[in-house]
Amino acid sequence: LLAALPDQKPDPLLALIKKFASDDRPGKIDLGVGVYRNAEGKTPVMAAVKSAEHHLWETQDSKSYIGPEGDPTFVSLLAQEVFCDGMVTENLAGVQTPGGTAALRLSAEILAHDNDRSIWIGTPTWANHNAIFATVGLGIKTYRFFDPQTQAVRVDEMLSAFESAKCGDAILLHASCHNPTGAAISAEVWSAIAEIVARKGLIPLFDNAYQGLGRGFAQDVEGMHTVLKAADEAIVAVSCSKSFSLYRERTGAAFVLGNSATDVARGVANFAYHARASYSMPPAHGAAVVATVLADAGRRKLWIDELASMRSRIFEIRTELTNRLSAYMPQLAAVADQEGMFSLLPLTPENITHLREVHGIYMPDSGRVNLAGLRIEQVDQVSRAIGQLL
Ligand code: LMR
Repeated sequence: LLAALPDQKPDPLLALIKKFASDDRPGKIDLGVGVYRNAEGKTPVMAAVKSAEHHLWETQDSKSYIGPEGDPTFVSLLAQEVFCDGMVTENLAGVQTPGGTAALRLSAEILAHDNDRSIWIGTPTWANHNAIFATVGLGIKTYRFFDPQTQAVRVDEMLSAFESAKCGDAILLHASCHNPTGAAISAEVWSAIAEIVARKGLIPLFDNAYQGLGRGFAQDVEGMHTVLKAADEAIVAVSCSKSFSLYRERTGAAFVLGNSATDVARGVANFAYHARASYSMPPAHGAAVVATVLADAGRRKLWIDELASMRSRIFEIRTELTNRLSAYMPQLAAVADQEGMFSLLPLTPENITHLREVHGIYMPDSGRVNLAGLRIEQVDQVSRAIGQLL
């Protein structure tokens, strides 16, 4: 059995965490995995989350099973935050999942039910997307989404890929804060995508993992709403890892939007079937925390304010880094208009090895930098080290 198994390389982002941890240089800098860090370089538990945990500790009276669909209160409170008023109807339903990854996996499972369906993925994308869709045997078609040299979205290539998709194909879209590029899609382009989705009968699958860390909590899903309103059927995978800083609690949800309550109930039943067959039920704690934050106006406000200050710290780092890097390479001025934790710098794997070995600056081989990994006083040093390689 074991000898016949294929060799598996560790996930590069997770391997980078270990490599960074084993580096004993005091000045090392981690721009790798997508985790928010504050001005002191820490990933604290949010105050709203702590308050909710305290409340749960006092009031929770059972750890009995909930079920493969998870906590319905969490799902419905989260739906109010992710969708706009007119969308939260009987034609929308969802399940709680262990993080956004499991939401994507359940989505992949129901999409793969039709052998003829492909999913269209813009490159580059989050490294795990391909593995999630390939594992369930879904056909994957790619198009070039972004050019690191010009820092521009290849809008024409994206739209013509969608034009060549066939009715019933799925298209993967990042709701905001594109991972790994940070590239934002304009309202005009979202409308063009919506028009193609409606005309061709495509199924949008949104990965909504960074809501609140881009332009604003509501603004970060406006483009997604434009497309969802035009779509006949759609899926939205939500992660609470970043928006609530709940990473290790594995908290997320998968939603289906359809034409009738019967259809979305069938979608949810299929999510629950696949959940039961793989992890049985999602872990309760993170979802209970999120529900406790969202159900109380005071805690919700505290959380929204904390999220706003995280967003403005990332924006400050983004502005400072752009000012310095664009002196070395003018097209990097575009980094200032990007959003979320990431940008993708035009660096080679050799450049990245050099940054790690000589300067103790860690990032994945793609050249993706997690801006939230930088403290303001490190921006100058990091810009100089990167600038010499551009
Ligand atoms: C990332 O892209 O760094 C995050 O989404 C963490 C992960 O699981 O890869």
